[in-house]
Amino acid sequence: MCQSCKEKFYITTPIYYPSDKLHIGHTYCTVATDAMARYKRMRGCDVMFLTGTDEHGQKIELKAKEKGVTPQQFVDEIVAGKNGILDLWKLMNISNDRFIRTTDAYHVEAIQKIFKKMYENGDIYKGSYKGKYCTPCESFWTESQLVDGKCPDCGREVTDAEEEAYFFRLSKYADRVRDLLLNTDFLEPRSRVNEMVNNFIDPGLEDLCVSRTSFTWGIPVDFDPGHVVYVWVDALFNYVTALGFENNQYGDYDRYWPADVHFVGKEIVRFHSIIWPAMLMSMGMPLPKKVYGHGWLLLDGGKMSKSKGNVVDPQILVDRYGVDALRFFLLRSFPFGSDGNFSNELLISCINTDLANDLGNLVSRTVAMVEKYFGGQLPEEQLSDPMDASLIQMASQLPQLYAQQMEHFQFQNALAEIFKVLSRANKYIDETTPWILAKDPANRPRLARVMYNLLETIRICGALLAPFMPDTSAAIMQRIGAQVFDWDSLQTFGILPATTTVMAAEPLFPRIDLEKELEALEALRQASHTPEAPAIQVEPQLEETVDFDTFCKSDFRAVKVKDCQPVKKSEKLLCFTLDDGTGTDRQILSGIAKWYKPETLVGKTLLAIVNLPPRKMMGRESCGMLISAVHTENGEEVLNLVMLDDKIPAGAKMC
Ligand code: MSP
Repeated sequence: MCQSCKEKFYITTPIYYPSDKLHIGHTYCTVATDAMARYKRMRGCDVMFLTGTDEHGQKIELKAKEKGVTPQQFVDEIVAGKNGILDLWKLMNISNDRFIRTTDAYHVEAIQKIFKKMYENGDIYKGSYKGKYCTPCESFWTESQLVDGKCPDCGREVTDAEEEAYFFRLSKYADRVRDLLLNTDFLEPRSRVNEMVNNFIDPGLEDLCVSRTSFTWGIPVDFDPGHVVYVWVDALFNYVTALGFENNQYGDYDRYWPADVHFVGKEIVRFHSIIWPAMLMSMGMPLPKKVYGHGWLLLDGGKMSKSKGNVVDPQILVDRYGVDALRFFLLRSFPFGSDGNFSNELLISCINTDLANDLGNLVSRTVAMVEKYFGGQLPEEQLSDPMDASLIQMASQLPQLYAQQMEHFQFQNALAEIFKVLSRANKYIDETTPWILAKDPANRPRLARVMYNLLETIRICGALLAPFMPDTSAAIMQRIGAQVFDWDSLQTFGILPATTTVMAAEPLFPRIDLEKELEALEALRQASHTPEAPAIQVEPQLEETVDFDTFCKSDFRAVKVKDCQPVKKSEKLLCFTLDDGTGTDRQILSGIAKWYKPETLVGKTLLAIVNLPPRKMMGRESCGMLISAVHTENGEEVLNLVMLDDKIPAGAKMC
C-alpha cells in the first residue's frame, strides 16, 4: 500500500521541562505513547509519533543562573548531554519519529507568527498584569510565588505593582470549549470532563496573560520588544510547528494534523483541554481528535520526585531488570487513566509472576520439549485432537480482543487478554501431558501437534507483546523460528510452518529473589540520600557585621509545638500553635510545608525569634519566625527547622 493511502495516526507526548533529571514517573507517558505508536505501525498505519522538550521560562532562566551558565547551555546539557533526555528515550527504546525542542529556530519563528496572527485577529490584546514587585531584583511575582510574603529570590519586601502584558481572550471561547468537553469525546477519561467544567469553566474563564516582561528567556514578541511569549502558548503550539505549521522545516501539517490523540498527565489536562482548543479556535485551525489525561505514578501514595531516592531512577531500574521488564510493568500494573502506586515490591512481583513464570516458562518449556523430543524440528506428520479446540479458539480470538482494548488506550486490559491465553497454554501442557506422550513412539504425531499448537500460541502472544516489549518479542520469535509476525499473520492460527525449527536460549526473564533484591534496593536508596558533596550548596557567609547590642535585641526562645496545621489555599505555609513559656499560645506561620508533614512536628522543640512585629499571611497573624537552616541540594532549596533537645523547657532564652 502506498504511504498516502494508509490510515494516518498522529500521537504526541507532552514536551518535557529540561529542569530536573527525569524519574520513572516521567517515562510513563512516553512509554505508553510508544506502545500505542508501535501498535498502530503493526496495524499498518502511517504513524507520526512526536515528543520533545519545553525549554523556555523563568524557572530555566533561574536554574541556569544558579549554575553560572547561559539558559541555552543549561538546556543543551540536560536535553542532549550525557544521560540527558535524548539518552533516556534511547534507553527506554522509544521509537519517536520526531523530536522538537522549543528553542529550535523554526519553532521560534513559527510562534512569533502565530502570536501575531492572534493579535491581528483581536484575540490577543494589550492590558496590564497585577502582581508583586521586588525593586532590588527588578522582578515581578504572583502572590503564590512569594515565600512568606516576600521576594522568593532575595527575601526582601515586595510591593503591589502592575506590569504591561498581552492577554488572550480565553473568556470569548468559554461556551464553545464547554460544549466541546461536554458533548463530544474530545477529553477522556470522562471523569476529567467534570473536573474541567466544574472547577475551571463554570466558575468563569478569565482572559489569559500570554506575555511577560519580567524575564527574558522566552520567545520575544517580535512587534513589541521586551515582551516574551508565555511558555504555555510557546509549548502547546509545538504540536503543529513540529509538522511544519508556519515554518519551512517540515511539510507534514496537511498530512498529520489534526492529531489523533495527545497523551498528557492529569495536571496538564487543563492546558490541553481548555486553553489549547480555544487558541486553535482563534487561529481557525482544526482541533485534535482527542486529549487523554492519564494518571500519575505515585511513590508511597505521594508525588514522585528524584529526592525520594534513586529507586525511581530509570537508568538504575533498566540496569537491574532490563528495559522491557520496566516498560511492561508500567503498562501492565496500572489502568492508564488512574493513579498507580509504584513500589519495588510490585515491580519485582510483576516480573516474577508474569514474565519469569507465565511467559518465560512457557517459552522455555515448549522450546526445550521440541528440542528434547524432536531434536529441535517438528515432523510434518501431526495429529489433532478435539481437546485442542479451546486453546486454538482463545489464541485465534486474541488479536481482536487485544485490539479493542488498545484502540481505547486500555493497555492493562490488552495485556491481561494476552496473559489469559498464556495461562491457558500452560494449562494445556498439563492437560496434554507431553512427557507421557513421549514415552510411546506411536504418539509422535500427536505430540508434534501439541508442540505446534503451543508454538503457534506463543507466536500470536509474542507478536502482540511487541508494542510493549519490542526486544523480548523479537527474542521469542527467534526461539520459535517464526519469520513473519505482521498483523495479517495474526488473524490465522496455523501460519507457522509445520516443520518449524526452534532455538533454545537463555531464559527470557530470570526469577528475582524478592527479599534479597528489596534489601539491595534499600541499600541503594539509603546511599542516594547521602548526596555527593558538590550537590550541596550553603548560603555564602555575609561579610557585613552587626554590633553586639543590636544582636542582643533579638529575642530567640525555645518553643514547643502544640499543634501544626496546613494553611488552606497555601502550598507553602504551615500554621503552628506554640508553647513559648508565657502561658499564652503563640501562633507562627512558616513556609516549610514542602519539607515537613505537619503531624510529624507536634511535640518538637524548635527555635523561634519572638520579638518581630506581627505580620499577616494568607489572612492569619504570624507572631515571630521559626529558625531554619537553608541550603541548596541538586539545585533546589532545602529548609531544615532548627530542632532543640526536648529537655529544654518552652520559653528558654537563647544567648
Ligand atoms: N512542559 C510541560 C508540558 C507541555 S506540553 C505542551 C510539562 N512538563 S513536565 O516535564 O513537567 O511533565 C511532562 C509529563 O510528565 C506530564 O504529562 C506529567 O504529567 C508527566 N509526569 C511527571 N511526573 C509523573 C508521574 N509521577 N507519573 C506520571 N506522569 C508524570 O508539564
